[in-house]
Amino acid sequence: MERLQKVIAHAGIASRRKAEEYILAGRVKVNGQVIQQLGTQVSEKDQIEVDNVPIYQEEPVYYLFYKPRGVISAVSDDKNRKVVIDYFPNVTKRIYPVGRLDYDTSGLLLLTNDGNFSQKLTHPKYEVDKVYVAKVKGKAENKQLLPLTRGIRHEGVKMAPAKFNILSNDAKSQTSIVELTIHEGKNHQVKNMLQAVGLPVQKLKREKYGHLTLAGLRPGEYRELNKKEVSQLLELAKKVKKK
Ligand code: URA
Repeated sequence: MERLQKVIAHAGIASRRKAEEYILAGRVKVNGQVIQQLGTQVSEKDQIEVDNVPIYQEEPVYYLFYKPRGVISAVSDDKNRKVVIDYFPNVTKRIYPVGRLDYDTSGLLLLTNDGNFSQKLTHPKYEVDKVYVAKVKGKAENKQLLPLTRGIRHEGVKMAPAKFNILSNDAKSQTSIVELTIHEGKNHQVKNMLQAVGLPVQKLKREKYGHLTLAGLRPGEYRELNKKEVSQLLELAKKVKKK
């Protein structure tokens, strides 16, 4: 048995707090009856509806996926392009990506059916470090990247301080490989940050998410996270950094 608000959150419908609001507002039914009592215990056999739409209770699952370039971080696409879910033909649970990587970005993407987990990891106030490796145009130099460590503003959007590491410079092709560690997840954040310091990104890969790496996986492959990895991520997410 589980608390009703937890089951709604796990189904990815809303955060636990929002689920409580829905219950109090009379928007939730259990076996056809409106239930406004917070903490009502329900089992897998109970039929739960939010706004008259049934939700399905599933065992939570967590996957670490090596997203290839040229794939959309979504469960479907109206233009019929390849989406990350296409790589999980044998998974029948309703998983979806935790945050997103751009179409042309490769690397580590988490997928789950646990809305609470997803919400925690993508909420701006929870800050899990993510490490990206970018191939950029130009000869990257420390002094050029330094502003990123203090935080910058790009087109009116504030970007929190990042850590960087110049991995290599290639004089012949006039490109460099730069590692950037950020904890936010704003749209095109890494590309925008590097563009802002004059280093346009040609290729981008997410190498790490918290403690997790892509070790042992090739593009298009995935593995399930174990319990310890899931709880470590939630622990990291809890360590809210001061603004
Ligand atoms: N930053 C980007 O610019 N793109 C991504 O896909 C992820 C982070």
